[in-house]
Amino acid sequence: MLTPPRVTLANLPTPLQPLDRLSEKMGVRIWIKRDDMTDTVACGNKIRKLEYSVGQALEENADVLVTWGGVQSNHCRATAAVAARLGLHAHLLLRGRKPESSDGNLLLDTILGADVNFLDPATYQAMDETYERFSAEYADKGLKTFRIPVGASDEIGLWGYINCAEELKQDFNNAGIEPDAIVSATGSGGTLAGLIIGNALHQLETQIYAFNVCDDEAYFVAKIGEDFERWQDRYQSTLDRSQLTINVIDGYVGPGYGRATPQVFQTIHEVAQLEGIVLDPVYTGKAFDAMLQQIRTGRFSGMNDLVFIHTGGIYGLFPQKDEIIKAI
Ligand SMILES: Cc1ncc(COP(=O)(O)O)c(C=O)c1O
Repeated sequence: MLTPPRVTLANLPTPLQPLDRLSEKMGVRIWIKRDDMTDTVACGNKIRKLEYSVGQALEENADVLVTWGGVQSNHCRATAAVAARLGLHAHLLLRGRKPESSDGNLLLDTILGADVNFLDPATYQAMDETYERFSAEYADKGLKTFRIPVGASDEIGLWGYINCAEELKQDFNNAGIEPDAIVSATGSGGTLAGLIIGNALHQLETQIYAFNVCDDEAYFVAKIGEDFERWQDRYQSTLDRSQLTINVIDGYVGPGYGRATPQVFQTIHEVAQLEGIVLDPVYTGKAFDAMLQQIRTGRFSGMNDLVFIHTGGIYGLFPQKDEIIKAI
């Protein structure tokens, strides 16, 4: 199999910690993989993927990283941070209107010196054309762009969580555990796809489950299948699609992407008080709350150890401060 170019960016390995008080309450041992500690400004899951996306960009002598996402995109903020750290430029194409004031991730994008455009839905939807237009403008100035898709979820970014699966294997050995399940949130699919492929490649012999925070199960099954095929082609892997099990648990999107119920905020509050770990309302809080509901209804019954991947997102809390305070 071919190996991808990589630039070292994240603080790895991240800790794997038991959540003692919550585990006692829930009757199953819950562990948390602290990928919220991969960095300070570029923290979360995206920096693992960016090690590979930006590794490829550097190999292609790019000057500008162009990527896109929501106004509060963690991925865009991490890209802005990584670009600044490496002396590159970041150009972020954000879906939606410019908010009255910058908060959370958007504030950091600005501090980090990224160029930001707010796109209407049609321009955002037509991303191929939109990207070409921006890329041509940079080319006129003698600068080369590199395109990183939403969430760095493509065959290149997948490597971030394939690599994390290998790291988890070592963590499990160190802790002397054989977890029955690894659980995460899924938004653009790359974290889940990487974990699934990594589970097969590195023989973790566990099950990977994800709770979708947008779209639905069918969307993620198709997306992961497509990304896997591109990955297999590009890096010439002999791994077969039949070796991969995709477990997406649908039904927890709630009021919509980026919007949480009061219960999710209460779970964020409970985990923070009990364990000193802060989840976010868009991804990890929603998925963690869904996992607790599924434990209560018996999905994980008979299992001894569950590992939740804390994929970060803390800066997304700040723009929702009023909703949090109201709910807790
Ligand atoms: C904090 C956080 N957790 C989880 C996810 C989901 O990861 P992925 O996009 O790889 O599915 C994202 C991004 O979408 C994120 O920002």
